[in-house]
Amino acid sequence: MAATGAEQRNERDTERRDPGTYYVSTPIYYVNDAPHLGHAYTTVAGDVLSRWHRQRGEKVWYLTGTDEHGQKIMRTAEANGVSPQEWCDKLVEEAWKPLWRHLDIANDDFIRTTEKRHTERVREFVQDLYDRGEIYQGGYEGPYCVGCEEYKSFGELLDGEGEFAGEKLCPIHRKPVEMLQEENYFFKLSAYGPKLLEHYAAHPEFIQPESARNEVTQFVRQGLEDLSISRSTFDWGIKVPWDDKHVIYVWIDALLNYATAVGYGSDQAKFDATFPADVHLVGKDILRFHAVIWPAMLMANGLPLPGKIAANGWLMVGGEKMSKSNLTGISPQQLTEHFGVDAYRWYFLRAIAFGQDGSFSWEDFTARYTSELANDYGNLASRVAAMVGKYFGGELPEATAAGPAEQAIADGLTHALAEADRRIGEELDFSGGIQAIFDFIKQVNGYLTEQAPWKVAKDDSPEARARLATILYTAAEALRACAVLLNPVMPESSEKLWTSLGAEPHLGPLAEQDVTDTARWGQLPPGATVTKGAVLFPRLEEPKTA
Ligand code: MSP
Repeated sequence: MAATGAEQRNERDTERRDPGTYYVSTPIYYVNDAPHLGHAYTTVAGDVLSRWHRQRGEKVWYLTGTDEHGQKIMRTAEANGVSPQEWCDKLVEEAWKPLWRHLDIANDDFIRTTEKRHTERVREFVQDLYDRGEIYQGGYEGPYCVGCEEYKSFGELLDGEGEFAGEKLCPIHRKPVEMLQEENYFFKLSAYGPKLLEHYAAHPEFIQPESARNEVTQFVRQGLEDLSISRSTFDWGIKVPWDDKHVIYVWIDALLNYATAVGYGSDQAKFDATFPADVHLVGKDILRFHAVIWPAMLMANGLPLPGKIAANGWLMVGGEKMSKSNLTGISPQQLTEHFGVDAYRWYFLRAIAFGQDGSFSWEDFTARYTSELANDYGNLASRVAAMVGKYFGGELPEATAAGPAEQAIADGLTHALAEADRRIGEELDFSGGIQAIFDFIKQVNGYLTEQAPWKVAKDDSPEARARLATILYTAAEALRACAVLLNPVMPESSEKLWTSLGAEPHLGPLAEQDVTDTARWGQLPPGATVTKGAVLFPRLEEPKTA
């Protein structure tokens, strides 16, 4: 195929524009059912990432939403005897939005693909591609998985067994595929293979983790086929502008949410300031859509490409991806009821290396909660507050006798911050970043054990009083830093700690603390009123108060 005008324009347009807004997105989720642990996993990760960047003082835009068109939703609505729109409205209002509120997700926008601000702009985008000669009419026949909303190749199908004996199954959903034959419109995706490969090579950070990049690169090297972008056998979708017997393929519709939600075709200033995304978080099941089709669509339309497509692994159940059909029977709400919202947000990011698959177990969650949250962190906070209360009447004393032990704590903090900032803020290694902060907490616990302030307190001499003051100041100042560093992960308990340290009247609101400034020692002023606040992480068998 001859190079199109769009291809030429892309020479300059694929460079990212305004770096001013750090724009993070989650996939927009299918609303055929209520959200489960797997959906919440990606959404919490995006929330932690965007809160981290907000606390770096950056302008951030965190987007999530719902994918409401296509056959899958249509069939679910039919099976429930309501219209697809009614079904979506109910699920979004009664299940999806409430869960994100419950989990303290601070998204800046929530886009629904049935909204006019989206549908109208999608039609314009697709019309534009058509006008540029990027779309043609053709026919296609192949196996289709409604669960994936995608044509499959024969090679990747599995042979059915048991109830599906003799049938071919989708490798992700393990359900029979359907043979579809259609006359529809095609996007010239095949033409973009070389440019995509060029982009992957020039921007190794574009697809993360490396295993995902290798997989996509190999897939593109094999040669891309053109993509069917319309359907004519059902009508729950956005009509193709030049042929209203067709609706736009749900994935083309869905991917465009990342543009329409930030003003594509409606608010140029906002679009220029926000688009493209710095990070699209996606499950590895939908990596190819984001790392192949989406950038090709943008290239075809002369728009800049996102900074990074970061694929998270799957939460597994019995060796398979957790999905609607194999749910553990455990909802996010059941876990938050038992462990609390903060521990829930923390656990999955802490326990599973981002990008790898992982399984949930009550035993592992309980063990980590007890040892890391309740014992290491929660106890440290309550012991320090109690001792400042007991020995200094709740008034934070001054550290006048600091020595090498105190310097080691300050150095430990500098190290923890550098690690956490790089791992969470840049590499999306949430587990490693959180671990660096908890290593610091361990270090502070070790410091207290060694310094044994409860023993020092038995001596009334001025030297001993100065040591006692120094030890408790050091521990409290270390906790000040922990509250700031953990605020993106666990906002509720961090706020409790901030209050207990009496930090706000002197340092301002917790959310306004610049995370990169955390290691500057001595921010909590002597004289601050320290109170023994609410227990951060209550024993699990105790009834929860929150
Ligand atoms: N609607 C499409 C996405 C369109 S984006 C333009 C879709 N939706 S989905 O409801 O199936 O949600 C997919 C996303 O949810 C996954 O990519 C992943 O981010 C998250 N997860 C769903 N199940 C998951 C697990 N079992 N484990 C981890 N993440 C999971 O695909």
